[in-house]
Amino acid sequence: MENEQKKVMLSGIQPSGALHLGNYLGPLRHWPRMIEEFDCYFFLADMHTITVRQDPAALRKQTITLLATYIACGLDPEKCTLFIQSHVHQHAELAWVLSCYSMFGELSRMTQFKDKSARHSENVNAGLFTYPVLMAADILLYQPDFVPVGDDQKQHVELCRNVAERFNGIYGDVLKVPEPYIAKVGARIKSLNSPEGKMSKSQPEGCVFLLDTPEDIARKFKRAVTDSDTENCVRFDPEAKPGVSNLMQIYAAATGKTYEEIEAEFQGQGYGVFKPKVGEAVIETLRPIREETQRLLKDKSYLEGVYRAGAERASAVAERTLRKVYKKVGFIQR
Ligand code: TRP
Repeated sequence: MENEQKKVMLSGIQPSGALHLGNYLGPLRHWPRMIEEFDCYFFLADMHTITVRQDPAALRKQTITLLATYIACGLDPEKCTLFIQSHVHQHAELAWVLSCYSMFGELSRMTQFKDKSARHSENVNAGLFTYPVLMAADILLYQPDFVPVGDDQKQHVELCRNVAERFNGIYGDVLKVPEPYIAKVGARIKSLNSPEGKMSKSQPEGCVFLLDTPEDIARKFKRAVTDSDTENCVRFDPEAKPGVSNLMQIYAAATGKTYEEIEAEFQGQGYGVFKPKVGEAVIETLRPIREETQRLLKDKSYLEGVYRAGAERASAVAERTLRKVYKKVGFIQR
């Protein structure tokens, strides 16, 4: 009963790399609260990752690790639908239909396609081009009200809306047109060693991974770039002091303290005192997640149970949408 009134939310993440502090302090940290408020679908978009070459063993490992990490971060599989994209065959099937309602021109305009095909010029495959169509299928199968995405995915959600509207324009109200959901609270964490750019796994020394050991985390914070002003004082000023301000943002998120409180705490003390303190706070924030992830990874049969049950639930919902679409386009019902 209760579920019927809840709005539906859906989000996917590619298991192509380890989660880092930027992911956690941005969207991930808020998800445990969202599963109370919304009927949530979270999936690991393994089918999307093969648009660029993956090592098969590494992909399997990343996928299961990410599943365990999600659960450790508080995504209780009893309270949301957690699944692996390739386990729900309806994604590929709806993607085919939708590809016949997606235009070559609009797909050519996707900035991520342009970027990725420039970066992987030796492998500009058709999947890279139709990636947003698969993403549209991911979304539309579950008829969500909201799709929380970062800036880089907004254009894809926009495309999904356009394709759904085009389809509905021909066949009536078949597909629910979702809204992109821009999170109200989302820290934008910068790289520790080049605070002009986002924290990213492509720069591992400036990036704190959720499963990093305490020693790694401590080292990365000790080496974090602070600003070359002569002030040597902990003060929030993202323009003049991007490095220190980034560390303050991390410290604030990890401890719940305000910038004023942090400035007071470190008054008269320099970066040499501040940086290791931020490291310690992060170590303590991530410790339970790392430990729980490691515990879950040893319990293979539990994780199998989670993804099987998740796929079963997802598939039942996805099948309803796919049937409707097949019928509308004129396929004979089996
Ligand atoms: N393309 C998204 C990314 O790279 C991942 C993704 C795949 C996704 N399907 C989705 C996100 C559906 C939201 C909804 O981040």
